[in-house]
This record gives sequence, C-alpha cells and structure tokens, in this order.
Amino acid sequence: MVEPIRSTTRGEREAALTLAGLNLFSLSAEDVELDLLTDSGTGAMSQDQWAALMRGDESYAGSRSFERFREAVRDVLGFPFVLPAHQGRGAESIFFGAVIDPGEIVPSNAHFDTTRAHIEVRDGIALDLPVPEALDPVSDAPFKGNMDVAGLEELLEGEDGERVSIVMLTITNNAGGGQPVSLQNIRDVARVAHGHEKKFVLDIARFAENAWFVREREEGLAEMPLREIAREQLSQADAVLMSAKKDAIANIGGFVAIREDEEFFHRLQARGIVFEGFHTYGGLAGRDLEAIGVGLQEVLEDDYLRHRIEQVAHLGSVLVAAGASVLRPFGGHAVYLDAGAMLTHIPPDEFPAQTLACELYLAGGVRGVEIGSSMAGRDPATGANRHPPLELVRLAVPRRVYTSRQLEHAADAAEQVLGEAESVRGLRITYEAPVLRHFTARFEHV
Ligand code: F0G
Repeated sequence: MVEPIRSTTRGEREAALTLAGLNLFSLSAEDVELDLLTDSGTGAMSQDQWAALMRGDESYAGSRSFERFREAVRDVLGFPFVLPAHQGRGAESIFFGAVIDPGEIVPSNAHFDTTRAHIEVRDGIALDLPVPEALDPVSDAPFKGNMDVAGLEELLEGEDGERVSIVMLTITNNAGGGQPVSLQNIRDVARVAHGHEKKFVLDIARFAENAWFVREREEGLAEMPLREIAREQLSQADAVLMSAKKDAIANIGGFVAIREDEEFFHRLQARGIVFEGFHTYGGLAGRDLEAIGVGLQEVLEDDYLRHRIEQVAHLGSVLVAAGASVLRPFGGHAVYLDAGAMLTHIPPDEFPAQTLACELYLAGGVRGVEIGSSMAGRDPATGANRHPPLELVRLAVPRRVYTSRQLEHAADAAEQVLGEAESVRGLRITYEAPVLRHFTARFEHV
C-alpha cells in the first residue's frame, strides 16, 4: 500500500505538538513526516498476504482461515494448541489472568510495558533480570537481551522462589534496546526454570529478528537455516505469547500457543471466549488470520530478514554520523537514542527522553517513542516516579515501508536538535492516567 506523506513547517508542527500536550501519541498521523513510533502493525503486507485476505472465511466457528492459521503456527513455531487474540496484549490478558495470583513474581530479561501492566494490575510483581552489559549503552556485547541466569537461580532458590510459577524471556528484548537473546541463554533459562518446576514462557513478538542475530552472532550456527533456528529457540518453551503485529507482519492480531498442557489450554480458551471471542477467531476476522499465517512464513525468508536488519543498521549508522548517542549494538527493529547522553542538562525527573522525542518531531516531523521515565510510570507500592537506568528514544522501523533514504531524514533531525541542545528545556507532567500513563499523559515545559 502506498501512502501519502505531507510536508509540514516547523510552525505547523509546533502548533500540533502544543495541541497534543507535548505527547507524540496524541498527534494526528497526518502531521508526521517520518513515523518511527512503532514497528507494530505498521508493516506493509505482501502480495501473498493480500491474496490470502481474499479467501478469508468469516464463519463464526471452525473457519478454514483458522485452520490455515493453526497450521502455520504448528509448522513454523511447532506449537499444536493456539488461541488467537485481537493483539499481543489480548493474549497477555488471557494468559496472565489465568496464572497470576496477588504477590506472584514473574522474572524476565525485561518486561515490555503492556506485559508489566498485565502482571501489575493483578497485583503481581514484574521483575527484570537483565545481564549487566544490557545497562551499558556503549558495550557491543552480542547478546545484551540475555537474562542474568545466576540472578534467576538466586531468586528461585531463595525464599521468594515459591512465589514464582512462570519464568519469561522476551525475544528480542524490546524494553532493553531490541537486543537479541542467545540460544544458549534461552536453553539455560529453560533448564533453570524447569529444574525448579516452573513453566517457561517466551514472548516471541520478534522471534524472527532474534533468529537472525543468533545465526549471525552465536558460535557454530552460521550455516543453520533460519527456520530451524526459529524452531530451536521455541522448542524449550511451554507456552508462547505473540503480538502478530510484529514478526507476523500483520496489521492486527496476536495469540497464545501451548505445547502440551491441554487442560491449561482449555482454561485459556474459556477465558478467551469471554474477553476476545470464540476460540477459533479470538477477536480477529478470518482475513486477519490468513494474513498472519502467510506473514509467519514470509518473516523467516533470508532476503527479507537481511534487508530488515541491514536497514535498521543503516539508520543507526547515519544517526551516529550525525553525532547522536545511539545504543550499541543497533537493535533488530529499532535504533535507540540515549537521551541522557544527548541532553545532559535535563535531569531524569524532567523527562529527558520525552523531551528529545518532542524536539526530533519539531526539527523534522520525525515521530519516535519515549522509553524512559514517562513510560516507566510509578511504583505501584509507593506511588513514586520510577526512573529506568537509561533514558531512551526508540526509532522503530516499520517492516517493508520506508526506503533507506527516507530513514536518513531522522539523522538530519537529530543533527539539528544537537546543534541547539543547550536551549532545550525539560518537561513536567500535567495529566497522567494510573496505568500505562505514557500513552495519554500531557506535559508542559519546565
Ligand atoms: N510484547 C512485546 C515484546 C511488544 O513489543 C508488544 C508491543 C507487546 C508484547 C504487546 O503487543 O501491541 O499487539 O498488544 N509492542 C509495541 C511496540 C506496541 O511499539 O513496541 P500488542
């Protein structure tokens, strides 16, 4: 699909941003020139996906589209039991509603914000256990998405161990810079979890991008076909949660898949019927299920993934050349700007990453997303603002949408912001919602 892009003046952008309460989520897409807000649901579908849409079977129960979708999940991912949901957080709602009791601790390499929210609204504790190098923005370590296995062992063997029933990993690690998790780390975490009789669950929103990095960076795997690596990554998991808006290259959709616990699966199905719809469509049209099924096959094609990863790296390189501080190494779906290093005079309680995101928009109509103190929200126990170790702006690249030349526009904007960095003022919040505040918060300049 070809979409128009409208040029805007700085004056127009200032007016739009003021109206949006200095929150880029509240902008009209029409006022954005380069939309790197997210890679979620923003990809362009292929000719085969559009063709598949035409045979969407919209039967309420047992549609052929569901059967083809289920077959793709079984074939590509290796999971026999699958429950569709309207998107990733629909799958999270079904799943966590069935497993989280108050006080339950869920360790992960780093929870994505909706995952954290689904745990916390049920009075669970979402615990991040990243490896130490994940917090070093300039380290070029190959697998900064890994979990700290010793930390996990310590938790499970300590007195809080019995408050854990599942152990999670998110591949790639979106909250931690789009960094991959090694196959070795997946195996180690699975072994420790299973050794303590805990379920091992993967968030596989970007499983194909993770597989690419595993093949590139992990010893002895350079010759292994991507499909095999993808299957191998997932082979240890008891369940997977998927937002099909990422590595199924669909505009909407998600699912939970279970390997063998049929009784648990039936419990999830019952929850799904209440919240998402009958378990063979789960809030999706048959057409959507078709697009996901085809997307799951396409996303593991060598040529597609090579272009994908290289394009994101190109964006990273031009940003570095423009003088921006960029998290190393570049992620699979996005480049993360280190706002703390670019706007050193703005303290964390004045939202440096949110400020940088606003300035990039004003400079060039570029829309990124804050991953810093605004997104981190408040500690549910104390109500105090949480400050993550890094203040980041994520520039996420939609799949199969922009040319690399268009992406270079982001580097021009960054260069402009850096040129006048000292005059940039921080922000304070004037409105916030109790959960996931970053989506709707309003700000003013300090
Ligand atoms: N898990 C991960 C790792 C994600 O990145 C997302 C969404 C979800 C779960 C939730 O899926 O949006 O389909 O409900 N990430 C998007 C992003 C929103 O911009 O990174 P969803």
